[in-house]
Amino acid sequence: MKLVGVSGALAGWKTNMAIHELLEKAKELDSTVKTELIDLRDYEVEFARGEPLAYYNQDTWDVVNKVSSADLIVFGSPIYQASITGALKNLLDHFPVDAFKGKVTAIITTGAVEKHFLVSEYQLKPILAYLKGLVPSGNVFVHSDCFNEDNEIINKEVSKRIQLLAEEMILLQQSIANRRG
Ligand SMILES: Cc1cc2nc3c(=O)[nH]c(=O)nc-3n(C[C@H](O)[C@H](O)[C@H](O)COP(=O)(O)O)c2cc1C
Repeated sequence: MKLVGVSGALAGWKTNMAIHELLEKAKELDSTVKTELIDLRDYEVEFARGEPLAYYNQDTWDVVNKVSSADLIVFGSPIYQASITGALKNLLDHFPVDAFKGKVTAIITTGAVEKHFLVSEYQLKPILAYLKGLVPSGNVFVHSDCFNEDNEIINKEVSKRIQLLAEEMILLQQSIANRRG
């Protein structure tokens, strides 16, 4: 089972750290899970122009293919202007419809405004559902106050929610695999 985490933050490290925590918890729960964290600041993903993938640079090709080859994906984004980052939206614009069929696609957002905890439900979840991803119910929002100065999550309740999300992702993926037989 391959689990890829995508961090759509280009500035700070909170989102990367939250995604990293989920990947670690998933490996603790199931040692057969192979993980990879794709931090979008490490790649020059080109702006989507509606052309086939072959027309884009190697980084764009690599990121799209790494995500496409995963069984489980967790998308992470800081909240920017009450939405997801442009970097993450641009990556999602590269995928064809049905790209996430048979995959579990979870969400972790980080933000400074508590009221924006539902942004992922209203803005990112519809995109993942449109691409046919199976979106777990336990998506996690992590408020800035839950991190220490080193961007580690210090709120135990939030860490527990991330663990529960990892568990839900694995259970959902197992049931998809069993159905395929
Ligand atoms: C351009 C910009 C816009 C932001 N807009 C919001 C917002 O609308 N709501 C919110 O909760 N936080 C907002 N924030 C705060 C970030 O979401 C928050 O600091 C986040 O945890 C940063 O994640 P990172 O460390 O992974 O970059 C904004 C930050 C930036 C830089």
